[in-house]
Amino acid sequence: MTTSTPAAADLKPLAYGVASASYQIEGATTEDGRGISIWDTFSAEPGRVRNGDDGTHACDSYHRLDDDLALVRGLGVDAYRFSIAWPRVMPDGRGKVETRGLDYYERLVDALLEADVEPAVTLYHWDLPQALEDEGGWVSRSTAEAFVDYARVVHERLGDRVSSWATHNEPWCAAYLGYAAGVHAPGRREGAAGHRAAHHLLLGHALVRQALPDTHLGIVLNLAPVWPETPQAEEIADGVDAIRNRVWLDPLVDGAYDARLLDVAPVLGDPELVRPGDLEAMQGSIDWLGINYYTPIRPAVPSGHGEPHPEQGAYPGVPDLDLVVREPRTDIGWEVEPRGLEELLVDTHRRVGVPLVVTENGAAMTDTEVVDGVVDDQDRIDYLEGHLAAVDRARAAGADVRGYFAWTLMDNFEWAEGYDKTFGLVHVDRSSPLLTRTPKASYRWFADRAAPARGRA
Ligand code: NOJ
Repeated sequence: MTTSTPAAADLKPLAYGVASASYQIEGATTEDGRGISIWDTFSAEPGRVRNGDDGTHACDSYHRLDDDLALVRGLGVDAYRFSIAWPRVMPDGRGKVETRGLDYYERLVDALLEADVEPAVTLYHWDLPQALEDEGGWVSRSTAEAFVDYARVVHERLGDRVSSWATHNEPWCAAYLGYAAGVHAPGRREGAAGHRAAHHLLLGHALVRQALPDTHLGIVLNLAPVWPETPQAEEIADGVDAIRNRVWLDPLVDGAYDARLLDVAPVLGDPELVRPGDLEAMQGSIDWLGINYYTPIRPAVPSGHGEPHPEQGAYPGVPDLDLVVREPRTDIGWEVEPRGLEELLVDTHRRVGVPLVVTENGAAMTDTEVVDGVVDDQDRIDYLEGHLAAVDRARAAGADVRGYFAWTLMDNFEWAEGYDKTFGLVHVDRSSPLLTRTPKASYRWFADRAAPARGRA
């Protein structure tokens, strides 16, 4: 791809949005026929999630849809990105359809359209029906096949109103944190299972592409710039890059797994796993690419006295590594480095040649205090402002970035971190039975930024 540098005046306005995910906000896990998901099971196991938290209540958005829609409307954003819970729609993963689950999402979509906010649907944000995990989960090819049936059912109900579809959110996490490092559901710790899951997630995506050819379809990846800390760490860094970035981009763009990846993950060369036609189906299967960015990765040769890192096992086949984190950091320990986003957007634009959307960006900060009805999260505002400036620079350098979604609408269930790490623009008081929502200073700041861009101010 050649990249021309557009004059600032030629750039289309950036669309603003805010994002969430079903298991992180909905609660109501046993209502209206919803089946069990792998996150229900995983978080019920002692020691898996910080403080023993789970998503049973989350933000109770299933019951407070109107309140949460008002919060979305109040931001004046162009789009709301949310995910659909597979076990609400197909409680057993395949077969029987639960129309009450679909009704909920239809109500959400209709209300958004009514408010002139574009619904941006993600089909899979990690809440796999437990029944499918019991048959092997993403390690098994049949899960990719079940995913297509589920996608068809959702599309049949909402396809006439939703124009932006993503298959998976961060399949690296689903595959490698879930099946290799074991820190996310289903909590398995087998390197090869991580690679197999990666292939089947990509396959599920590609089969949806074939089933829904006219849909504006993308996938959301947590690509990351990989910066070796020392020259000695370059080879390790290349392995990390292979599993974090190239395992997804190479099949999507070139229809192949590259030689270096096959060194790290020989199982991806197994013809039993990668069947004729699989890679061809993946190639060219996206109309747009979503990028979730939080922090760069700085691999280093292990010093012997580094802290064991929770993502250690998530790069199976790569020799042991340390991950260096420079200051400043957010409350979840991630380095703040907007230049990483700028580099990633420019490089990925060159690599993929389809429009890009920043589908998530945001920060966990220690801002749990509400003082006189105000949450002063200037540090989050600084983070967002710095990263939006990076998006502007990438666009000025020619990267075709169409949208920017802040993560996240409100404080929610942060996976293995439970409710302890808060990324929300809206504070949720977990000590109040009403789970009272209070917009933070960052909510007002983001609204000030988003609304005028749309002429909504
Ligand atoms: C990525 C995930 O998509 C989202 O679910 C998570 O809460 C944020 N990053 C922050 O970790």
